[in-house]
Amino acid sequence: MDDRTADGGGLAPQAHANANGTAGENGKTTKLKIFRGDAEGGEEVEYELPMVEGMVVLDAVLNVQAEQAGDLAVRWNCKAAHCGSCSAEINGKPKLLCKTRMEEYDGEEIRVHPLKAFPVIKDLVSDVSWNYEVSRSMTPFTSDAQAPFTMYEEDVERLYEPKKCIECFMCQDVCHVLRTHNKHAEFAGPRFFVRAQWMEMHPMDNQNRLKYLHEERGGVGYCNITKCCTEVCPVGIKITDNAIIPLKERVADEYYDPAKWLMRKLRGNRNGARNGG
Ligand code: SF4
Ligand code: SF4
Ligand code: FES
Repeated sequence: MDDRTADGGGLAPQAHANANGTAGENGKTTKLKIFRGDAEGGEEVEYELPMVEGMVVLDAVLNVQAEQAGDLAVRWNCKAAHCGSCSAEINGKPKLLCKTRMEEYDGEEIRVHPLKAFPVIKDLVSDVSWNYEVSRSMTPFTSDAQAPFTMYEEDVERLYEPKKCIECFMCQDVCHVLRTHNKHAEFAGPRFFVRAQWMEMHPMDNQNRLKYLHEERGGVGYCNITKCCTEVCPVGIKITDNAIIPLKERVADEYYDPAKWLMRKLRGNRNGARNGG
């Protein structure tokens, strides 16, 4: 079974409706601290709500929205760990709210905040549009061949893992290059290394993105393989092992192999002379 559906899901919508700010079916309540605010600032507000067995954090947040704070902003869509919309931070770590059970935090305080690496719009909703700008800055899949393609089975299998990405941007959020050092202008981030690697290993793609990754916006050299991105990926993509390390190896071959360096120099000089440089 797909582990996304096994762990995701949470409660059916009617489970929200029975919650009314008093005790749940079993007489228990739970507490949640939620960031309330916007780009100007804000604060955590504590809410108490009925605890229903099996509820996920998104259920709790939607209960608060339905019963106590109608203007609470939260982004969600599928409620099944498929769309990537509900990513936020629980106790400082990026999580899909619809995949994270309240029971995981039994006895602990639960603090829900928007993703920290991107500007907050309101409450739990952050502005992730920067990621789409990065996406547009990368040369897209380009092929001379006409789909449907005929490919070897092993190529198809290798291409399957990166295509599982649901663009939750939790890997971007946890990466210290963005989260702590704010290198948004010169670092594409792990999600886009996954995308680049998918295109680079696609046998039908005819582009080369190594210059982008090394000299331009990609900034793959900033990554020091901490593997934090791999640890948070909800669909289990081995981001570092299967995307970043192969890309770094290709960049090293291209830029630091003396023979290739000389070839690039000669190519550059020829182009310069052709352009009158
Ligand atoms: S492995 Fe690289 S891309 Fe992933 S979180 Fe660490 S520094 Fe960022
Ligand atoms: S690679 Fe994983 S963590 Fe990163 S955006 Fe895709 S699904 Fe989310
Ligand atoms: S609502 Fe779609 S991933 Fe959580």
